[in-house]
Amino acid sequence: MAKHPIKITDTTFRDGHQSLMATRLRMEDMEPIAGRMDEMGFHSMEVWGGATFDVATRFLAEDPWERLRTFKRLMPKTPLMMLLRGQSLVGYRTYADDLVDAFVQRSAEVGIDIFRVFDALNDERNIERAAEAIKKKGKHLQLAICYTVTEEGRLGGPIYNLDYFVGKAKSFQEMGADSICIKDMGGLLAPYDAAELVTAMKSVLDVPLQLHTHYTSGMASMTALKAIEAGLDVLDTCLSPLALRTAQPAIEPLVMALSDSDRETGLDLDKILELGDYLESVLPKYRQYLESPRAAVIDAKVLKHQIPGGMSSNLISQLREADALDRLDEVLDEIPRIRKELGYPPLVTPMSQMTGSQAVSNVLFGRYKMVSGQIKDYVLGLYGESPAPIDSEVIEMALQDSDAKPIDGRPADAIEPEMDKAKDAIKDISSDIEDALTYAMYPTTGLTFLKIKHGLEPMPEEMKPKTLEQVERERATASQGASKAPSDAPPRSRFSRQFNVYVGEQHFQVEVDPLQPMQGMAVRPVQSARSGTSQRAAVPEQAPAPKAAPGEARILAPIPGVVLRYAVEVGQDVAAGDPVVVLEAMKMENTLPSPISGKVKSLPSQPGETVAKDAVLAVISS
Ligand code: CO
Repeated sequence: MAKHPIKITDTTFRDGHQSLMATRLRMEDMEPIAGRMDEMGFHSMEVWGGATFDVATRFLAEDPWERLRTFKRLMPKTPLMMLLRGQSLVGYRTYADDLVDAFVQRSAEVGIDIFRVFDALNDERNIERAAEAIKKKGKHLQLAICYTVTEEGRLGGPIYNLDYFVGKAKSFQEMGADSICIKDMGGLLAPYDAAELVTAMKSVLDVPLQLHTHYTSGMASMTALKAIEAGLDVLDTCLSPLALRTAQPAIEPLVMALSDSDRETGLDLDKILELGDYLESVLPKYRQYLESPRAAVIDAKVLKHQIPGGMSSNLISQLREADALDRLDEVLDEIPRIRKELGYPPLVTPMSQMTGSQAVSNVLFGRYKMVSGQIKDYVLGLYGESPAPIDSEVIEMALQDSDAKPIDGRPADAIEPEMDKAKDAIKDISSDIEDALTYAMYPTTGLTFLKIKHGLEPMPEEMKPKTLEQVERERATASQGASKAPSDAPPRSRFSRQFNVYVGEQHFQVEVDPLQPMQGMAVRPVQSARSGTSQRAAVPEQAPAPKAAPGEARILAPIPGVVLRYAVEVGQDVAAGDPVVVLEAMKMENTLPSPISGKVKSLPSQPGETVAKDAVLAVISS
């Protein structure tokens, strides 16, 4: 037995599949090995939180609470861990304190033993309420510090230097943390920096120190080893089929690398290999999410631009939708500039999406000409305190059409209690607290899920689980079809629909697209994926909009998106600059103002409708 064994947290059931396959791993494929995972002797298993909650309800029709209950039943020995986004819980905005209390309480009762809590800005005020609630339930509170770099790519510089991280570690320990975690979501922590950081943190900490890193840039195994040598207590790893690439380092080589050392893991390599074999046997079901056209398993460019892999794939899809893929380099140059202006927020959810989308807007429409609601809120301090001051010109540009003033208090202080409202909103469907919490996190997709769960709506075909045979058959059919497709086929329009065709025992899936759009054909609203998943909303083709009549002004969609809501009604008077329509584009809410003063003549789109670039969203007559 090693003198000081490194303890291992396994992330296979959460971050592993979240990082590599858009969080799509279903319970039916985890359950068969859960019992054996429990026997492995892991320090803990990360099984819940983050995108798992979102994707389970949005795409898989699996109840996240039921998933947790099942994990607890199958893995009673190993402490179960979840990732909690501080005051944002498992959602994307700041929630009221009563919701934080209720969510933590229920999660603790259903099965979470260790709560890993972080805030995207490392702002203590966004963590304190959850921390209190966790302590109140007698559970393990782990506070995680988001690791990022200033500009140089290494630890140091004016903001993210050793003093900053050691200061956060001390402050988090004072908040009652039972352990501290360095959360390196971008895979930016370099090996020798890790050694320095771990040594410095250990010298001020009385509680264990854990490292969570991602392989994205290719440094993670080296970083892990240096951190272990410097005295790290716990490391996050993953079974090899879901390790490396943008996920965690693999456990198997680590077991070997540390064998016969005083940091030996104590884990049985043979047993781990068997579990890996099992995963290899089920993962082909998820091929569509796992496959990457790239040859390299690492993204070496991260070392240069520090932009996480999920963020760059989002940028590429956003630019493709805007028909501006040739401007990617400009966007990549714009990101560090925006980040500096915004006071160097760590590029972690939701800041990574917000910064990336703003960079796309700045390049396409001019700097801060279109500012998302989220960036406005950030500038107002509603996400917390920026690590460095925000550029005053940017504050002015972002808030030019708003009378709101930046706050300097705790963001959640401004939020009214919301638990009762959530219960009330679903009272016709369910009185279950878990359902109310699901709804509170995801009012749109969560509500749809609850209707499916309680049998009020049928489960859509695409949410149903598939067997390996079904997946293989669909692939074969698709590749057959593709090889026969004429190369000059016109692009699919927004009216195309998929149909199942059965010929005897044979089944084909065909897509039918009318040559001319039929009257009354509606576009199905497409949910946007906010969760770092690779799902991309289908965007209708661009339809040339008729010219505006004299004395009229039209508001066109500057970029494809989903119409979230109108701020006005037909017939209403508006002044130039008044908000008219909110378009969700690039996962951000963008308020589009009236270009002139006048009367709202028509609002041609429906809330929830997916619109093409240049679609007419409103007509204003002067
Ligand atoms: Co992670």
